Amino acid sequence: MLRVRDLTKAFDTADGPLPVLRGVSLDLAPGETLALTGESGSGKSTLLYLVAGLDAPSSGTIEIGGRALSEMDDAARARLRRAEVGLVFQQFNLIPSLDVAANLAFHARLKGGTPDVAPMAERLGLAEHLSRYPEQLSGGQQQRVAVGRTLIARPRLILADEPTGNLDEATGDAVLDLLREAAEGTGAALMMVTHSERLAGRLSRRLHLRGGVLA
Ligand SMILES: Nc1ncnc2c1ncn2[C@@H]1O[C@H](COP(=O)(O)OP(=O)(O)OP(=O)(O)O)[C@@H](O)[C@H]1O
Ligand SMILES: [Mg+2]
Repeated sequence: MLRVRDLTKAFDTADGPLPVLRGVSLDLAPGETLALTGESGSGKSTLLYLVAGLDAPSSGTIEIGGRALSEMDDAARARLRRAEVGLVFQQFNLIPSLDVAANLAFHARLKGGTPDVAPMAERLGLAEHLSRYPEQLSGGQQQRVAVGRTLIARPRLILADEPTGNLDEATGDAVLDLLREAAEGTGAALMMVTHSERLAGRLSRRLHLRGGVLA
């Protein structure tokens, strides 16, 4: 599903280039669930952004479903992302003018679906909040909407950046269960950034980012 080879990324800063990724290689098969750990600032979000095609690497290749991101133009990358990739960002990026039900349905509708959001809302403890707007929700509730919206669209590759960062232990476990079920049930591949040893231990694989490389 995902093939990453010799990926490097350096950011241009006022003090010169800042190398963040120094040669990252990684394969992720359908149904695999990968925990990505690493210190704050080690480049975890950078790696997810590159895999999502939202930023370009300095060198190296990324293939999703056998197609190289570098060989596509922006429009093709956006189509691939919409069709295959589900993103849960560190910032939730909910749409402020839409209520919870419409936010949950948003990505699936972009793909042409007419999703029933009720079962997912129930699982996420959001059933009572479907007609609320994002600004009326707590951080943890917003985070759950962001996860639900991604899963309802049934992506083949799920990229989640600390999707349980704002949640208490029990709610974090429930969100992790949903992400794992998506992988086990539909054969999606999951790459999840987490700072939690406990949650990392519940996924099928685990990699640690340090000094710009994975180990
Ligand atoms: N657009 C940018 N321009 C310059 N430097 C950047 C940019 N984006 C990220 N960085 C730097 O790259 C490094 C890695 O950042 P990144 O956000 O990937 O870390 P992270 O592992 O996700 O950390 P956290 O756990 O705190 O979310 C940091 O030193 C950060 O300051
Ligand atoms: Mg980050």
